[in-house]
Amino acid sequence: MKIVVIQGPNLNMLGHRENNIYGNMKLEDIHKQMEMTASQNNCEIEFFQSNLEGEIIDRIQECVGTADGIIINPAAYTHTSIAIADALSAVNLPAVEVHISNIYKREEFRQKSLIAKVAYGQITGFGVFGYHLSMVAMLQLLNELKAMKEQQAKQVQEEKK
Ligand code: DQA
Repeated sequence: MKIVVIQGPNLNMLGHRENNIYGNMKLEDIHKQMEMTASQNNCEIEFFQSNLEGEIIDRIQECVGTADGIIINPAAYTHTSIAIADALSAVNLPAVEVHISNIYKREEFRQKSLIAKVAYGQITGFGVFGYHLSMVAMLQLLNELKAMKEQQAKQVQEEKK
């Protein structure tokens, strides 16, 4: 099982950036924690951060055939990028959308997510702990999907008998 974590613009500034909203933790420390959870669950994990929309789209596309699920904080692109939403829709992999802050409690322009419609679910407002929640959600989801596929394969075998 492999999860790809994609972080959008300015998230490389975590720890320096508006600490009252985003906390003090650095992105690399968040990733270390996620890595630990992944290894405890025999899951591969890869991290990608970019400030560029096109690079994020390329990374999403690269997930076809190489990853089972995507955890994404599209940051400001959440509110503007039809292209990132289209890429997530195109790859047809389960995606969990994460936000550190509660976007629904903030400025009006942040209260709309173009990603929510193509994500399996959204985690917002739990601070950086949201990344851990996203791991729990994704691992559960992938295990359920795996069990479903195994069940379907078993049924096909039995029908052949
Ligand atoms: C964010 C919320 C966005 O509105 C903002 O542009 C970000 C971070 C969050 O994690 O709370 O950069 O996605």
